[in-house]
Amino acid sequence: MNFDYDSEQQEGQQKIAAVADLKGLEEIRVEYLGKKGKIAAMYAALAGLPDDRKPQEGKKINEFRSHIFHLIEDKRNSLVDKKRQEKKETIDVTIPGVSAPVGHKHILMQTIDEICAIFEGLGFAVQEGPEVETEFNNFTALNIPADHPSRDGFDTFYLKRPDPDGEKGNLLLRSHTSPAQIRIMQAHKPPLAVVVPGKVYRPDAVDASHSFMFHQIEGLLVDENVRFSDLKGLLEVFLKKLFGENIKMRLRPHFFPFTEPSAEVDISCYICDGKGCSVCGKKGWLEIMGCGMVHPKVFEAVGYPKGKYTGLAFGLGVERMTMLKHGIRDIRLFFENDMRFLEQF
Ligand code: DAH
Repeated sequence: MNFDYDSEQQEGQQKIAAVADLKGLEEIRVEYLGKKGKIAAMYAALAGLPDDRKPQEGKKINEFRSHIFHLIEDKRNSLVDKKRQEKKETIDVTIPGVSAPVGHKHILMQTIDEICAIFEGLGFAVQEGPEVETEFNNFTALNIPADHPSRDGFDTFYLKRPDPDGEKGNLLLRSHTSPAQIRIMQAHKPPLAVVVPGKVYRPDAVDASHSFMFHQIEGLLVDENVRFSDLKGLLEVFLKKLFGENIKMRLRPHFFPFTEPSAEVDISCYICDGKGCSVCGKKGWLEIMGCGMVHPKVFEAVGYPKGKYTGLAFGLGVERMTMLKHGIRDIRLFFENDMRFLEQF
C-alpha cells in the first residue's frame, strides 16, 4: 500500500470547499468516513504492511481522518448558518423578552413588616421568641392561675417532652406571644421597648375566622413612670398610621391576667365610617387588639424590684388586622397558597 496523503488531503479539501449543500456534504462524509469509505480502506490496508511500518502509517491515517472530520464539521456549521440566514432566522432584538416571574412577600409578612416598621419608628426594637415554650413563660409568669381554662389541653397544644427547666408539666406550643415578654424582661433591665411578631398555636377547629396556627404581635414598654395615658397615646398614633388619620379609637375595660388595668381597643369602622355595616356587624366599631398596664405579679415573676417600674403591653392578631385592612372574609385564604389570591397583594 502506498497512499499519497498530501494529494488525498488536497483532493478532500477541494471537494469539501466546493460542496454547496448539506446533502452533498453528507455524500462526501460517507465517501471518506463511512464504513466502506476511503479511510476504512486505508485502515484495512494496514494489515498487509510489515509490522515496523504499521505505527507510522497508522499515525498518518489518524491525522488524515481527523483533518477530514474537522473540515466536514466546519463546513456543516457554516452551511447550517447560511441556511438560517436565508430563512431570516436572525434574533429580533425588538421583541419583548419573557420576564421571569419575581415573587413577593406574603400578605401576612407585609402586615408584620408594616406594623413593626411603625413601632421601630417610635423607638421600639423588634425581637423574636421561640414557638416551643414552657408552662412557666406561657402561663405562670403571666399570672395565669393554675386552674385557668386556657391551660387546658383543649386550648393549648402540649408536647410529649417534659419541661427541662424544672416546673412540673410539659413543654407546649405557645398559645400567644406574651411569653416573649417574660424572656425579654429576664434578659434585660428597663428601660425597654420591644415588639415581638411570631406564630402562635391553639387547637381550634378551622373555619372562616379560626386557624390552629396564626400570628400575633406583642408589644412591651417598661420604664419608671410609664402611665396608662402613654399606652393610650401610643396606640392612637400607631392605629392612625396603620388605618389612616381619620379613624377614631376607644378603649373598653377588659380583663387579662397579665395586665391591670386591661382594655380592649376598638377603632371606628373605616368602611362605614362608624355608621354600621356588615364588616363591623352594624356596630360602627371594630375590635382590634388587647392591651393594659403590666401586672405587678409579672414584674415579680421576672425578678424586677417591687414598685420600681411600670409598663404597658399590648397584643394583636396579624390575620385579623390584615382581614380588616383588606376586607378579607376568610382566614383560610392566607394559608391555602392559591396564587390568584396571594398575587393581589
Ligand atoms: N395575649 C393576649 C391574647 O392572646 C393578647 C394580649 C392582650 C397581649 C393584652 C397583651 C396584652 O400584651 O396586654 O389574647
